[in-house]
Amino acid sequence: MKGIVLSGGSGTRLYPMTRAANKQLLPVYNKPMVYYPLTTLMMAGCREILLVVNPSDEESYRRLFDDGKQWGLEIRYVVQPRPGGIAEAFLIGREFVGNDRVGLILGDNLFYGDALPALAERGATGSGAVVYAYWVSDPSAYGVVEFDRAGRPVSIVEKPKEPKSNWAVTGLYFYDADVCDVAAHIPRSARGELEITDVNAHYLRQGRLHVEKLGRGYAWLDTGTPSSLLRAAQFVETVEDRQGLQIGSPEEVAWRSGYIDDAGMEKLIQPIRDTEYGKYLQRLLARG
Ligand code: G1P
Repeated sequence: MKGIVLSGGSGTRLYPMTRAANKQLLPVYNKPMVYYPLTTLMMAGCREILLVVNPSDEESYRRLFDDGKQWGLEIRYVVQPRPGGIAEAFLIGREFVGNDRVGLILGDNLFYGDALPALAERGATGSGAVVYAYWVSDPSAYGVVEFDRAGRPVSIVEKPKEPKSNWAVTGLYFYDADVCDVAAHIPRSARGELEITDVNAHYLRQGRLHVEKLGRGYAWLDTGTPSSLLRAAQFVETVEDRQGLQIGSPEEVAWRSGYIDDAGMEKLIQPIRDTEYGKYLQRLLARG
């Protein structure tokens, strides 16, 4: 399964934190932000990953992820010359997608929940487009989906002033290979971007959009403003401290998913043995 992580953008709402550093490399508590969405895709079964990055950040991402083999992945990089909307990923990534189904996740979205792997896997193996909706108090900052009485999606609108529901469309999407053609034919929006909502609306018109509701057993957090970034960090700290289990560790997900074996994990631990993170991975190996 293939997956794309969007890690470009200018992060203007986090300025000046993003003056010299790429937003998705900023920490969420104890890990780079991009670790969280990457591990979500890994849990969905995506092992071929394309990272869409800004020209000036490619080197940092290569330092962080290399070619992904250490985690049983195949990671490639492609540069987005300037921010042009989420759906642009399918123009830039057309060759990567080829004739396959593909997942897309925004590098600043954090998902949490026990059943998340199964839910994401359903998207990965489903048909047409599969997106996820989450009940939020203020949906006007998001794509908003409206359902009929039978629970079928009837409309999807980007950042509506008067939202038809509280169901926000999250930054995790799965599509069939048609998505590249769909993205190539949608017009740019008023803000000059290729909107993912227009892609989803296209699938909806064709009756090929499936919306899975993320119920109350999930957390979906974004990290686009200083407050939401802090809240996400506090959420991760609260759960990790209570359980002694980490959220969003690629080493752990790779090991638990069987992408790497014990020897592979040992190799990852070796150079970071004395760090807190290294000790955590050692405890996993010892206790399972
Ligand atoms: C984007 C999408 C929006 C979606 C949101 C999820 O918003 O355009 O439909 O609900 O991501 O995080 P933006 O990042 O442009 O504010």
